[in-house]
Amino acid sequence: MNQSHAAQDGDIATKTYDPLDHDVKQNPYPFYNQLRRDEPVKWLEGMQAFAVASYEEVDALLKNGKLYSSAQFWPALLGEFDPVPEVPPMISMDPPNHIHLRKIANKAFTPSKIQALQERANNIAHELIDDIIAKHGNEGECDWVWDFCALFPVTVISEVLGVPTERRAEFKVWVDDTLAAANRAAYDAPRLAQIKANSEQLRAFMEDIIALRTAEPGNDIISTLIQADVQGEKLSHVQVLSMAVLLLIGGVETTTNLLGSTLTLLHRYPDVERRVRNDPSLIPALLEEVLRFEPPVQMIFRHTTEDTELAGVAIPKGSTIMPLLASANRDESKFPNGEVFDIDRKVSVPIMSFGQGPHFCLGSYLSRMEAGKALEVVFKRLTLLEPLSKDVHWIDSYFARGPHELRVRFKAQ
Ligand code: HEM
Repeated sequence: MNQSHAAQDGDIATKTYDPLDHDVKQNPYPFYNQLRRDEPVKWLEGMQAFAVASYEEVDALLKNGKLYSSAQFWPALLGEFDPVPEVPPMISMDPPNHIHLRKIANKAFTPSKIQALQERANNIAHELIDDIIAKHGNEGECDWVWDFCALFPVTVISEVLGVPTERRAEFKVWVDDTLAAANRAAYDAPRLAQIKANSEQLRAFMEDIIALRTAEPGNDIISTLIQADVQGEKLSHVQVLSMAVLLLIGGVETTTNLLGSTLTLLHRYPDVERRVRNDPSLIPALLEEVLRFEPPVQMIFRHTTEDTELAGVAIPKGSTIMPLLASANRDESKFPNGEVFDIDRKVSVPIMSFGQGPHFCLGSYLSRMEAGKALEVVFKRLTLLEPLSKDVHWIDSYFARGPHELRVRFKAQ
């Protein structure tokens, strides 16, 4: 099945949008189109939530944190698999608590701090390519998703957080599995038990790191959080834990998926690959268009604090709302020819891939910098990097999107 054409009009005719449906997860875009055209605000019985598909409504609701609260985001996403259920993480907080925490976190993620990480990101990308060559030779095959896309961001964020990188492969699995709880409704008991165990492992691991950094502070974010003052008060142990886990969860799978989707699109559009390889100054434009076209986070969650109305649909207080970021990114009223992948596109409004409003992604600079460095190094070192098949098996998630695996043929300089 060629993913660009999966979930064809035939499916659309016989199915309505259900984010948990396998075919929808493999290619949700025709369903988003249909929603924007026919029902931009739609009640989803299976999710017990209102999906919002149009740009203007998504933008307006994300900017109105008072009416559309984030408090239920994490419980809705992870349910009983939240590794730190005692306190809400920042992403699931409303003002004023959110503002205090965000101020602290912003200090660690300023553009200048991210600039300072460029050289390290560059070296990590080289080290991973060296590892691939050491394992497979100058020419060969590997799983690009695991060998590069997964290990690269987990190594970068580990260094930022001050987490030892030797165990990166293990905690990559714990982080991914914790996030897999988003799809818990579709899983059987053994799979759920595995997710629970991995969520507990992640917590136990971070507890150990925090104990270590409390005893011996370093020049890393966990040490900064331990020492930070919020209005004259220190963060509690469990607040530091919650933030550290959020940064790991937020920073790992998202950037992995951005890198994986980039390769699938370059494979689908070889002329774009040729252009970017010849002129690496096009890398930022390529990444912006990948972010718009295949956003790693497809949707997020909000809850209404009052009865309200959205695009003419009455929404009762306490309703779950799912702004479909990926749908907003293809809204024709904002992105003409939104279904076309075009790295020369000039956008007149921000893409929704990092959200909007007070919870706008803390890691947007970091992930853009990381992905940019990674591609620069990859194009320099690998003269060929080609998926073996045009078929893409996307990860089994309605929330996160990226290829599950990408067997590739590569050739190093
Ligand atoms: C391509 C990569 C990424 C994508 C697509 C992405 C997407 C998002 C989105 C959509 C939100 C908004 C959530 C909301 O409004 O409820 C968000 C928030 C957040 N992201 Fe990212 N993210 C990425 C990378 C990262 C990285 C690298 C980090 C950290 C190292 C990170 C940390 C966070 C945090 C902490 C928040 C919550 C901010 C707040 O509540 O104020 N993200 N991200």
